[in-house]
Amino acid sequence: MTHYEDLREILRATTRTWLVTGVAGFIGSNLLETLLELDQRVVGLDNFATGHRRNLDEVKSLVGPEQWRRFDFIEGDIRDLDACRRACDGVDYVLHQAALGSVPRSIADPVVTNGVNVAGSVNMLVAARDAGVERFVYAASSSTYGDHPALPKVEDAIGRPLSPYAVTKLVNELYAEVFARCYGMKTIGLRYFNVFGPRQDPNGAYAAVIPRWTAAMIAGDAVYIYGDGATSRDFCYVANAVEANLLAATTANPPGSSQVYNVAVGDRTSLNELYAALRGLLAPSFPHLRRAEPIYRDFRPGDVRHSQADIGKAATHLGYAPAYRIGEGLSLAMPWYIAQAQGGSATRIAETNNQLR
Ligand SMILES: NC(=O)c1ccc[n+]([C@@H]2O[C@H](COP(=O)([O-])OP(=O)(O)OC[C@H]3O[C@@H](n4cnc5c(N)ncnc54)[C@H](O)[C@@H]3O)[C@@H](O)[C@H]2O)c1
Repeated sequence: MTHYEDLREILRATTRTWLVTGVAGFIGSNLLETLLELDQRVVGLDNFATGHRRNLDEVKSLVGPEQWRRFDFIEGDIRDLDACRRACDGVDYVLHQAALGSVPRSIADPVVTNGVNVAGSVNMLVAARDAGVERFVYAASSSTYGDHPALPKVEDAIGRPLSPYAVTKLVNELYAEVFARCYGMKTIGLRYFNVFGPRQDPNGAYAAVIPRWTAAMIAGDAVYIYGDGATSRDFCYVANAVEANLLAATTANPPGSSQVYNVAVGDRTSLNELYAALRGLLAPSFPHLRRAEPIYRDFRPGDVRHSQADIGKAATHLGYAPAYRIGEGLSLAMPWYIAQAQGGSATRIAETNNQLR
């Protein structure tokens, strides 16, 4: 049995209360789904800035009615300290996901990104501290490695941030460490590398690469690659990120009161390889893709050239053992992306997902 399988057994036998901020978003709604499936009590906080009610509806259709009754949703903004305090009341573990993601968004509007990601996170730390939660786990980011050239990335060797978004995520880490030092809080930051999977928004100017390309490919629209396509990422299926959160929240023995861990797979996939993998998965159902090719454009400012994680620290301290590599994750996520691109309802998407279990 893996450490994570052990933990799932323990959780099934003991109901704890978890706060998931950003619960209507991609990673937040996947955390919600897993926690409810494990018969946990969950409080969710979200203002629907980039998340969607349909994500919550989809989770509702995937879990049992008993499990759904253990979920309390608060529509609120993490920039509002009172909302954060209400959300933290009676909570054992905080999984803080709410933020404005996207490097280009932060370059376009650094003020709003800073307000949500920095001031909002400080509110969450204060509220969690005053509520006496057992552990504060928060979404950090691989963007913190900035211009550091080493590969794979190890937690201690970071460079200079390349975007306002990266600054906010680095500042989150600094605050978490200071809250541990000054107030004795237990905090763990999870530096997610490119996470993908069901409920990742394919729409809008700031959509992530996998849902954006998949939707464009199905629609027969152009797919743009910024740069020469050799740019690479450590793509991480969302179930791995969920595993890391549950292990981090409950770990008995972290090596200190404030830590950060890489959350990825330890692989590296170039954008050209990703394009070929998606085309290979989609072409049998969408023959117009058989001879499709991407269009190359200039490199984008703020983008890191290569990214690959060393996941040894999370493996050693948390027992993290990602169960899905990119190919498996893409195969699992594809039915959802296809249903979504074809205007699928929450129920239809849930049915597609259920067929995969
Ligand atoms: N997806 C990735 O690859 C990735 C990589 C590194 C870090 N992260 C981090 O992981 C977290 C979750 O990302 P995601 O991909 O699920 O993004 P997402 O946009 O789907 O989810 C973010 C959620 O936070 C909510 N939110 C935003 N501002 C808020 C506010 N002021 N008050 C309350 N809620 C607010 C949004 O409505 C949304 O539901 C973020 O902190 C992000 O920076 C994600």
